[in-house]
Amino acid sequence: MDIRKTVDLSWDEFDELRDPRPATNDFDAVVERAISRRGFLGGALSFGSAAAVFGSGVLGSATSARAQAAAFNFTPIGIATDFDIHVPEGYEWKPLVKWGQALFSEAEGAYTPETGVPVEMSDKVFGENTDGMETFTHDGHVLLAINSEYVNPKINLPADSEGMPKNADEVTLLKNMQGVTVLEIADNGNGWEVVVDSPYNRRITHETRMTMDGPVAGAELVKTNADPDGTSPKGTMNNCGSGKTLWGTYLTCEENFNGYFGSTETSQDQKPLVLPFGFDRYGIGAEGRYAYETFDPRYDFSNEPNEPNRHGWVTEIDPSDPTSTPVKHTALGRFKHENAEMVQAADGRIVVYMGDDERGEFIYKYVSNGTWAGGQPTDGLLSDGTLYVAKFNDDMTGEWLPLTPETTGMPLEEILVFARMAGSKVGATTMDRPEWITTNPLRAEAYCALTNNSNRGVKPNAGGDETPVGGPNPRQTNEYGQIVRWRPEGEDHGATGFTWDLYVMAGNPDVHDDAYAGSENVTPGNMFNSPDGMAFSSDGLLWIQTDGDYSNEGEFAGQGNNQMLVGNPETGEIARFLTGPYGSEVTGLTWSPDRKVAFVGIQHPGGSWPDGEGKPRSSVIAVWRQDGAEIG
Ligand code: FEO
Ligand code: CA
Ligand code: CA
Ligand code: CA
Repeated sequence: MDIRKTVDLSWDEFDELRDPRPATNDFDAVVERAISRRGFLGGALSFGSAAAVFGSGVLGSATSARAQAAAFNFTPIGIATDFDIHVPEGYEWKPLVKWGQALFSEAEGAYTPETGVPVEMSDKVFGENTDGMETFTHDGHVLLAINSEYVNPKINLPADSEGMPKNADEVTLLKNMQGVTVLEIADNGNGWEVVVDSPYNRRITHETRMTMDGPVAGAELVKTNADPDGTSPKGTMNNCGSGKTLWGTYLTCEENFNGYFGSTETSQDQKPLVLPFGFDRYGIGAEGRYAYETFDPRYDFSNEPNEPNRHGWVTEIDPSDPTSTPVKHTALGRFKHENAEMVQAADGRIVVYMGDDERGEFIYKYVSNGTWAGGQPTDGLLSDGTLYVAKFNDDMTGEWLPLTPETTGMPLEEILVFARMAGSKVGATTMDRPEWITTNPLRAEAYCALTNNSNRGVKPNAGGDETPVGGPNPRQTNEYGQIVRWRPEGEDHGATGFTWDLYVMAGNPDVHDDAYAGSENVTPGNMFNSPDGMAFSSDGLLWIQTDGDYSNEGEFAGQGNNQMLVGNPETGEIARFLTGPYGSEVTGLTWSPDRKVAFVGIQHPGGSWPDGEGKPRSSVIAVWRQDGAEIG
């Protein structure tokens, strides 16, 4: 393999290199199971009418019954294929902060449209590839914490590097563009703007000193030459989705961390003969995606075999204290974390729902041992508890299976570092790439975006678990995705039992007349593919962001650029609210404290968006109503 080409791969394709599909396998014998008998597909919204939707017939045969979006206080917009943002009539938008924008006055003018950001200023500006984010208020200041997921090296590096760093400085440049940005914003009459030089402004990068807590802190598995105690990892990486604790801190979620590590001991087109334990399951192989290992021994696992075990965690940051040390919470398990949705059990225990975004991986929840009420100490709430993994039954029930030494036969440290393997041992359900999980503020109910899964019914996951068609993953080679939701027993997020249904199956009713047309709440007027980011607004509406195929051709004809839609959880209606520029993913959503402005992330845009010249710049935009009313 030519390592230089890895930069052009999607994360799925990168994983496929690690775990290639065999020429033939047992799954080739899987005949597409009779989707029509799975009556629940005919209706999202089986809650409340579960008996009716079973046997409601073949999906797509009742196009005339497809819901018409009507119940929103905006006029839904059509698709777009251009290099601009579109919002409904009566709304406006503007960029809030762009990649390379100065957080400190010393970095003003550092970004240029031709060359991007110089290495000296790369940790004093807003990071690349904006993703999850949350709003905080502290002492009257409004703060945003925003993830910078990964890099676009062909855009970020000097042209002669052709997308791969050629020296240690260029590795530093890439490292500094990722991680987390904390910044203050203020509205002084011109709309929300970055407060340059605010004492709260902060960059947290691949080099920032962290601590760990929970059962893995100090364990052999996380000790390195540089940190023989195994308690002081450096850096948070591939920060994807986010979460907010009930006590007002930020949770950043480390997703495709595997891509940053490699080994200099082997030639670049061969796996080492023996990879360290667990590397296969997590997709860590001989060549890192950005050649970090060539210039920094920390990323070279022939030198530091435990360094990858120090990544893939949920990390807590206190945005109100720029001197605070981020904490990696090992009790929440190590996997490709999408986001972390915190709620409370009826008895006051802390519950965190989490998805592992890889084809055929699992959905988890953490439940603390201790309980909490506002104002009480938070010690131990994210370090002492039980990790569970989800099992979905075909009868639309499910259960949370505890991952303990008793249930898995693994020591606790291994359960957490290799949570995927623990999940496999207890028979967790292989999912269609769990992305964001969000909870309904108006009832005990959680939603998870299952973005797509080209391997569903085709090949096992990286641990060899079969991925049969069924349950909440009902379509073979699922290219459109769906949103599953569950209600815990007794309306208590601490319960171990739940019922589930599919809120929506994305699809294309113009191209298909079977299950790939989507569920009945998908219409030619609102269709989309690959739901990913999700958040509830305080009024109980579900905002859905997409990271899918924006070719507008073939299977995706009529779906246009990636977008943000709004769903009504009660009626199932879905309406398109925003379209992103061509090439971009719409990801990350939070609101101003007065709910009058929504902040929306635009990741990896194409063309020269938003400046209209030079390089494209991932940006957070502000969206508001012209009449000044709340929008969420
Ligand atoms: Fe970073 Fe799974 O999205
Ligand atoms: Ca995502
Ligand atoms: Ca995605
Ligand atoms: Ca992304």
